[in-house]
Amino acid sequence: MTNITYFGHACFLIEFGGKKLLFDPFISGNERCKDIDINTIEADYILLTHGHQDHVLDAEAIAKNTGASIISNFEIVSWYEGKGINGHPMNHGGKFDFDFGTVKYVSAIHSSVLPDGTYGGNPGGFVIWNDKSCFYMAGDTALTYDMKLIPLLCPKLNWAALPIGDNFTMGIEEALMATSFIDCKNIVGCHYDTFPIIEIDQNMAQSAFKSEGIDLQLPGVGETINI
Ligand code: NI
Ligand code: MN
Repeated sequence: MTNITYFGHACFLIEFGGKKLLFDPFISGNERCKDIDINTIEADYILLTHGHQDHVLDAEAIAKNTGASIISNFEIVSWYEGKGINGHPMNHGGKFDFDFGTVKYVSAIHSSVLPDGTYGGNPGGFVIWNDKSCFYMAGDTALTYDMKLIPLLCPKLNWAALPIGDNFTMGIEEALMATSFIDCKNIVGCHYDTFPIIEIDQNMAQSAFKSEGIDLQLPGVGETINI
C-alpha cells in the first residue's frame, strides 16, 4: 500500500520505499491550496515531469528547505543545478535504480519550457516501482500509443495518476482509454479544476470510469489516500 497525498493540480507527495517523493509542486500559486504552507512539506526527492510553471513553481523553495534533489530530464536538472540544487538527470526510455526503487522516464505528448524561457527539454512521465508496488505518474500528456509500451516494459501497475482536465491534456474520455493502454484499473485524477478552462464535472467523470469498471479517485487538497 502506498500513501498518496494530493496538493492540488498535478502535485502529489508519495511515500515510497521509505522516501518522500514530491511530484510537480505548484502550491503557492494555486488558489485551491491556500491552506497549505509549503514550508511544512517534507521531501527527499522532487520529481518534475516538465518545465511549466504550474509544475515547478515551488520546486526551488522546497528543495532548498528540505535538501531534496530533483529528478527530471537533463535540461531541467541542469537548470536547477545552476541554482545550486542537486539533481539526477534522465531522458526518455532510460531507467535508474534509486534508493527507493526504479524510475523510468517515459514519453508524454506536451511541451516544456522553464519559467524564465530556458528550453525545458521534452516533457515526460515517470513509471516507478520496487518489489512492493508500481505506479505511473503521467504528467501533462495527450493520449498516446506510447502508453501501450508501459505494460510491456514495466511491472504491472498498481495505480496511475492521469490528467483529466482536458484543454492542455487528455480529458475524461481519453484518460479512460489510457487506462486500457496502460492496463490499470486504479486511477487518481489530476490537472483539473485549478483554472476555469480545465474545470470538470467530477460526478460525471467518476461515473464514466465506474461504468468501465475503473476506480477514479479525486482526493481533496491535502487529503491522503492509500492504494
Ligand atoms: Ni504543462
Ligand atoms: Mn500543466
